[in-house]
Amino acid sequence: MKCNKLVDAGRRQFLRGGMAATAGAVAATVMAPEQAKAQALARVDYPANRLANIADLVVNEPMDIAYPDADSPGVLLKLGQAVEGGVGPDGDIVAFSVLCPHKGWLMSYSAEDMTLNCPGHHSRFDCEAGGQQIWGHATNNLAQFLLSLDDKGDIYANGIDELIYGRLSNVL
Ligand code: FES
Repeated sequence: MKCNKLVDAGRRQFLRGGMAATAGAVAATVMAPEQAKAQALARVDYPANRLANIADLVVNEPMDIAYPDADSPGVLLKLGQAVEGGVGPDGDIVAFSVLCPHKGWLMSYSAEDMTLNCPGHHSRFDCEAGGQQIWGHATNNLAQFLLSLDDKGDIYANGIDELIYGRLSNVL
């Protein structure tokens, strides 16, 4: 038998979301300067965390990291050729969350095809293409950590391009 309660709940949620969006749009048009300033301050300030030194990396060998805090595991990779979002002299150093965007299972790296793979429901993400999803249940690409390199070869994470699974804000 079909469950109508779920359908109704979804419709209510949709309407509630629509009303909230409309209210938000109206509020945005009449926002006082103090409110606008407070909203700007509410933006996420990412920490600049040192992840490793370039000398610590071996091509196509994943290094476990965490960013922006210890509860957000990730992987740091030197892929051996310039890729989207890559830093360093070869433009090949990237980092990603290893929490699957679908339901947060911990993913593992496949050196064979440079992908991150989820054991939960088999979503796969391309590390050479900015964490683009190439298969599975997830509905968005993988969160990529934004990196920089200083003149000593230290690699820093400075931000994230997607929401980490399970969070309402990347920085808690
Ligand atoms: Fe990764 Fe479902 S938790 S595909």
